[in-house]
Amino acid sequence: MRDFDEHSITDAVVKRVRRASDPRAREISEALVRHLHAFVREVRPTQTEWEAGIGFLTSTGQKCDEKRQEFILLSDTLGVSTLVDSINNPVAGDITETTVFGPFYVPPPEFPLGGNLGAGIDGPPMHVSGTVWRHEGTPAAGAIIDIWHSDVSGFYDVQQLEKTGGLAGRGRIIADAEGRFHFWTRRPAPYPIPTDGPVGAMLAAQDRHPWRPEHVHFMIAAPGCRKLVTHVFAQGDSYLDSDVVFGVKESLIEPYVAHEGGRAPDGTSMEGDWYSLVRDFVLAPSAMAPSPESLE
Ligand code: BEZ
Ligand code: FE
Repeated sequence: MRDFDEHSITDAVVKRVRRASDPRAREISEALVRHLHAFVREVRPTQTEWEAGIGFLTSTGQKCDEKRQEFILLSDTLGVSTLVDSINNPVAGDITETTVFGPFYVPPPEFPLGGNLGAGIDGPPMHVSGTVWRHEGTPAAGAIIDIWHSDVSGFYDVQQLEKTGGLAGRGRIIADAEGRFHFWTRRPAPYPIPTDGPVGAMLAAQDRHPWRPEHVHFMIAAPGCRKLVTHVFAQGDSYLDSDVVFGVKESLIEPYVAHEGGRAPDGTSMEGDWYSLVRDFVLAPSAMAPSPESLE
């Protein structure tokens, strides 16, 4: 076969990739070719535009290193991360909804129950507490809870290690025998995702702002349960309806309650402004198949 043109090239490539012996590789390759060609047919790029597209992907790759993952940012800002997450974690009864993982997780240091994850970062004190439940309603004793969030200026520790002097605003807490957890930290803030790379240029070209609403990340694991990756968003935040990475779910919004002085839930006598956040989590069974019917 030769002399391919606009009308014959797609079928020719599809027929070629259909020879793949692995059925999933075949399915993915065929869909990739069909959708990529359909995109090009719709956009009808000039040669210069096509080269700019290749340049964009090249600089996205070049921006990546062990601390920066520009391709994840691209997937997040185009809503692909949320699409993949929702395909694999459909809404199911009382089970806590998931959301995007983001690029700022690193394995955190462990703290005792009631410990302070916020040493080394700025922001008003915030007390966080709740219970982790299994889907059938029993407490997830000993659940491993990883927490991470920005400081009050909207920066994660890994973006300013010279200022924080190490990991801060993140930690691992182990739930007690009743699945309960509590810890202190500093209240975070809304923040813009990094815009000094090609994803920032893309957002500018699309006239989009780069902001995420204020949130705390949680990743929770317990035997027999699916690992939960989620956030708890601050009620009333002005970016809840325009999160740059499309991660907000109504069920994940909670009040970050303001206090002045008085006694904290753990009995600490407080002075000045502080906040409290209470939130329970319900874990899905690990055998749960990624389809809504599987829980019915
Ligand atoms: C985050 O919440 O940490 C995040 C998620 C997606 C893109 C950038 C940051
Ligand atoms: Fe975040």
